[in-house]
Amino acid sequence: MSSFHVLIPVPVLSVVTDGLASACRITKLWEADDATIEQSAADIRGIALGGHFPVDGVFMGRFPNLEIVSNFGVGYNNIDTAWAARHGIVVTNTPDVLNEEVADTALGLIISTARQLPAAERHLRAGLWTERPFPLTATLRGRTVGILGLGRIGKAIAKRVEAFGMAVVYHGRKPQPGVGYLYCPSVIALAEACDILVVIAPGGAETKHLVDAAVLKALGPDGILINVARGSVVDEAALIDALQSKTILAAGLDVFAQEPHVPQALLDMDHVVLLPHVGSASTHTRNGMGQLVVDNLLSWAAGQGPLTPVPE
Ligand code: DGY
Repeated sequence: MSSFHVLIPVPVLSVVTDGLASACRITKLWEADDATIEQSAADIRGIALGGHFPVDGVFMGRFPNLEIVSNFGVGYNNIDTAWAARHGIVVTNTPDVLNEEVADTALGLIISTARQLPAAERHLRAGLWTERPFPLTATLRGRTVGILGLGRIGKAIAKRVEAFGMAVVYHGRKPQPGVGYLYCPSVIALAEACDILVVIAPGGAETKHLVDAAVLKALGPDGILINVARGSVVDEAALIDALQSKTILAAGLDVFAQEPHVPQALLDMDHVVLLPHVGSASTHTRNGMGQLVVDNLLSWAAGQGPLTPVPE
């Protein structure tokens, strides 16, 4: 197994480098010059990712004996999986280990956005409390949360939402028998049926701009949009317009169309809560994701197949 050679394109958690170094040969792309990479290109059989490093066909094509790309994250829209499949390259991701963390972040955003907690804190820190009370905010009680994408994380969000006394409705590719929540047959119907629309659908071409101007209009002037999935699922220009024109009440966003760029228009608005894509970013959960990146590679290198391959 020690001859299994893994390329690490960007700096990763020590759980990944340490876990791989004990069993594989590793090359760190950011420490190697082009000539060194060219020389070892034919030896590289695995890639261990960190962050959302883009892996397209051109990149994978540099390594003629590449067998597996181990992604750090449950979302894998950063990888050209169709190209990988055509070339017999396995792609793995890190599902489940981050469900609870991302669901916690979604709830944090729902509460912070409805109750405007960050703006209230800014009010206090600016010394404004002595001049006037912070304006009254929306409540969670009796509201309905619409979940766009009732997968594993969506279900963890739904469980939390119910504990807060809110109702759950959802939309996805198809109704899920037995989940006990009302299925809405379209994104517009979902937006019409809920007060707080939570986006937790995967990124990629299939879901691009699922939340557009018409959906935001259907959400309405008391509606709140939360996105903890991928920026691409929401038409960001339409969202900015909807927030500026008060077509919706507020938004809580952990993800953006062109990360790490955040449009100035969003930064300028007080009724938007903005996070730097930290949905899964606790030490515990990120280490769990890193360990799964390692375990997928080691299992493959040992001839036991991938542990969590992405669906074809
Ligand atoms: C994921 O796992 O896809 C999250 O976005 C964390 O980066």
